[in-house]
Amino acid sequence: MKFFVDTADIKEIRELAATGLLDGVTTNPSLVAKAGRDFFEVLKETCAVVKGPVSAEVAATDFNGMIREGEKLAKIASNIAIKVPLTWDGLKACKHFTSKGTMVNVTLCFSAAQALLAAKAGATFISPFVGRLDDVGQDGMQLIAEICTIYRQYEYFKTEVLVASVRNPMHVVYAAKMGAHVATIPPSVLKQLVQHPLTDKGLATFLADWQKTGQKIA
Ligand code: G3P
Repeated sequence: MKFFVDTADIKEIRELAATGLLDGVTTNPSLVAKAGRDFFEVLKETCAVVKGPVSAEVAATDFNGMIREGEKLAKIASNIAIKVPLTWDGLKACKHFTSKGTMVNVTLCFSAAQALLAAKAGATFISPFVGRLDDVGQDGMQLIAEICTIYRQYEYFKTEVLVASVRNPMHVVYAAKMGAHVATIPPSVLKQLVQHPLTDKGLATFLADWQKTGQKIA
């Protein structure tokens, strides 16, 4: 399973890339607004740090606008994945870019029917938003299960399921159990994945006992 980080904060991206466990990055207009920096600068710096796919979302909502913006974003680096919304124009733009070999992440997916369309449009990634479904009383992970089941029926669907709007470590674990290809995870949740109180407790005991031996390894 691939781990992407869901942020436009270059400091967090650098810190997490240093672990060697980061496979890509996703950004969206809200994250760019939060970072408060020039979009193109952030993308250039991110693509230099992370060699895997870096999602950059278009702001246009019409096909021609998405193509214009997508072409400009794709010029930044070869690992840019153009992010388009799950609308008819977005799907048309998806088909346009993927048939030219540019990666596309189709975002704002909230149903299996939408995910089916994205696969038909040749999307590189489909981004179902699990947390936002949970927020409105629907089961986000149930949607991931449905999409994974559907995609597995058709070998020629090459679209990867990119679980988005991840809010806690269990979203990541359930996504992995279902065989989702990617989870894009906020930095705070990625850091939570390593934590377990018994690990901390066990380490403290081992260190105390090691001290008692009076030995050194190096
Ligand atoms: O990048 C899209 C997605 O991950 C947004 O998450 O927490 O704003 O629903 P959230």
